[in-house]
Amino acid sequence: MKKKIPEASNVTPSDFIIIGGAGDLSLRKIIPALFWRFLDNQINSNSSVIICVHNQISIDQLKSKLIPHCKEAIAKDIHNKEKWAQFIDLLNIVVLDVITGLGANDLSILLKKRIDIKRPLIFYLAISSSLFGHACRLIEKAKLNLPQSRLVVEKPIGHNKLSAIEINNQLSEFFQEHQIYRIDHYLGKETVQNLMALRFANTFFENQWDNKNIDNVQITVAETIGVEDRVSYYNEYGAIRDMLQNHLLQLICLVAMEPPSYFDADQVRDEKLRVLKALKPLDITEMQIGQYQGYKSELGEVSNTETFVSLKVSIDNWRWAGVPFYIRTGKKMSIRASEIIITFKKKPHDIFSKLKDRKEDDAPNRLIIRVQPQEGLKLKLTSKAPGPGGMRLFPSELNLSFGDTFANRLPDAYERLLMDVARGNQTLFMRLDEVLAAWDYIDPIVEIARQNPPQLYRAGTMGPEDTILLSKGHLWIDPKDYKE
Ligand code: BG6
Repeated sequence: MKKKIPEASNVTPSDFIIIGGAGDLSLRKIIPALFWRFLDNQINSNSSVIICVHNQISIDQLKSKLIPHCKEAIAKDIHNKEKWAQFIDLLNIVVLDVITGLGANDLSILLKKRIDIKRPLIFYLAISSSLFGHACRLIEKAKLNLPQSRLVVEKPIGHNKLSAIEINNQLSEFFQEHQIYRIDHYLGKETVQNLMALRFANTFFENQWDNKNIDNVQITVAETIGVEDRVSYYNEYGAIRDMLQNHLLQLICLVAMEPPSYFDADQVRDEKLRVLKALKPLDITEMQIGQYQGYKSELGEVSNTETFVSLKVSIDNWRWAGVPFYIRTGKKMSIRASEIIITFKKKPHDIFSKLKDRKEDDAPNRLIIRVQPQEGLKLKLTSKAPGPGGMRLFPSELNLSFGDTFANRLPDAYERLLMDVARGNQTLFMRLDEVLAAWDYIDPIVEIARQNPPQLYRAGTMGPEDTILLSKGHLWIDPKDYKE
């Protein structure tokens, strides 16, 4: 029987103000996430959602734009249609121009009657980072920068360290660090958080978690989609800045960090920061960049922007010295899969080597952490084939599939992260020093990429063919193996 997950705890009624409220991120992720939380009664009709838009739009128009992204939630239960109508009642639309400040007054009138020190005022900046400074000034001018105000910002925070500093200076002119929530939505994914539980709520993995026992780590974040309608944004950023600087480095941090002394925002972030600071600078032989065929015609011009990157990352500390972390991410790959594969060292001595008819290939133990889809964990082992046929060894596995184990749906990362903002919990958000340390590592990599044109790869493959990155006879393990 599937296990029922305990009910989520309520959060304090809050005001969510989404600046850029009719944009793609808001329609696809933020508002649907709030609706799911409303369905689970985590937020109720004492909360409000204010959608700040640049061009006038009616509630009905907004509703019809939202329906495609909320239809699964609306259809899930017979009563959800009523809940959908109640949720729509929570929405208010304000026309706002962050540059001229037009509409600031309407926003402050709308919020004035609700202002209460105990009620979080959450400003989600779902706009380009070049407008963050303007938005902060507007919030200040509208007298809405109060002790209970919180600011949520999305990546990319800058395109290098210098611009990240500039953007952060604009934020910190008005908001203190404890009010700023920098989202990396990978940290809100269930399996990513489970990595911390797996490592630090159990003893047996942590005892094996070092260079004496681990041979190598592979992290793949593969997407089957291309750049689609984000081509002009993407062409400016490329895979290194779009995915590696944030999501993949965060995954490395969670695999490699030391145990914090307790689960607290700054303790966790201190440990992640230590990993980022221990990353060894790369050279060209340890990285490969690619671009899928057809990218230039989608863009309509010649471009060297990479849509694939793979690296051999080394972490310069006692725990990880000598253990390669192979990392890759790309668009238009053969499979959509994000996973972390920890391969353990081979046993020091094989007592079964003299067995007759031995067919077992002496495969190493592997821990596979499937971030998405089909979230779960697998531990690959060798065991005895049942029956009296002698000691026959064969590969087997312990399998924890979240979908098969738990009855509830797994919430989207944004649901968890938005509720954490309302609770005032910054553990899963990036602190400024983390962002800057990530850029310290990434800036030279971007420079190498700039000087070396990407190799072309066919759409529907796992990237350029000659995988120069793997050393010591290691091979990339294809995510499709997970299903076997
Ligand atoms: C975003 C990137 O941060 O993450 C996108 O900008 C990418 O390019 C997306 O497609 C992947 O997220 P997910 O949750 O689908 O793995």
